[in-house]
Amino acid sequence: MRDAFAKHPDAKGMLLITPTDYGACAAIRETARVCHDHDVPLIVDEAWGAHFPFHPALPSWAMDAGAAICVTSVHKMGCGLEQGSVFHLRGERVDPQVLASRADRLGTTSPSALIFAGLDGWRRQMVQHGEELLGRALDLAASVRAELAAVPGIRVLERDDLVGPRLADDHDPLKIVLDLQELDRSGYDASEWLREHHRIDMGLSDHRRMAAQITIADDEETTGRLLTAIRDLVDRIDEIRPAKPVDLPEPGELELEQAILPRDAFFGPIEDVPPEEAIGRVAAETISPYPPGVPAVAPGEVITRAVVDYLLSGLDAGMYLPDPADPQLKTFRVVKR
Ligand SMILES: Cc1ncc(COP(=O)(O)O)c(C=O)c1O
Repeated sequence: MRDAFAKHPDAKGMLLITPTDYGACAAIRETARVCHDHDVPLIVDEAWGAHFPFHPALPSWAMDAGAAICVTSVHKMGCGLEQGSVFHLRGERVDPQVLASRADRLGTTSPSALIFAGLDGWRRQMVQHGEELLGRALDLAASVRAELAAVPGIRVLERDDLVGPRLADDHDPLKIVLDLQELDRSGYDASEWLREHHRIDMGLSDHRRMAAQITIADDEETTGRLLTAIRDLVDRIDEIRPAKPVDLPEPGELELEQAILPRDAFFGPIEDVPPEEAIGRVAAETISPYPPGVPAVAPGEVITRAVVDYLLSGLDAGMYLPDPADPQLKTFRVVKR
């Protein structure tokens, strides 16, 4: 990270996404310290961490770890209505009036009283009963983890898999990630099967995993349904096709070269070209496998063979791409030469 600041001395701040959809948390405090050494603010996308402030056994939330701003979606791990996202501001590094004026440019002029009331209700409930409710959810998650780990073929990702040197800094135990590699099935197909046969929507799925998230709204009845469904899935595994291989790039291969500014690529002249011709061209669109919704390609970046192979093999395996002009990627939208 210090190298990134050395390379980009004019950086105005840093945006850190933590926790991930898999519940892995970055070292916010250390990151904030490096940002402050360079006198810039740290902004944290803490979409999945709405509950963190309200129980001591959960990872630290960004405001306690030195970030200037964090944005969180109360409708994710909290109990807000959809669109109930909020930002928090702390310290002197970001002027509240500047932040308010930026928010004003992006926000609606017709705020929803329902959403605001939902947010306030959640905040009040957490302040009054958060520790007790989240403590119960944590106990429930621990017992669900143990029961799922006993299901043959299912591997539950535990703290030791995610946290350690060169791994994550912390972990949210309410995110229960199931690895299906031993069953040779993809998370995409297994999640579809659970939806069809048990009316259960998993939180996240990828080429080999799927995740369940436990919240304060869960109890033995809801987790019992999950356990029954996962056991049934394993018993009826032959109903699901074997996992199709996905050409996963090395992490570095997903850091594409930024050739021009995103806005110039997005608003400039464009054309749609077949995948083979897209290699080496500058993307004019965002392509984000969802979930987790992190862009593999952003406007202005040079498209590589590794990323094309990843996305095409991913689509074949069941990956969902909500944002490109052609979600099946018969064509890629690129900047016109
Ligand atoms: C890391 C991250 N940030 C932001 C968002 C979007 O949040 P919102 O639903 O509040 O718009 C998501 C949605 O999944 C996310 O995973």
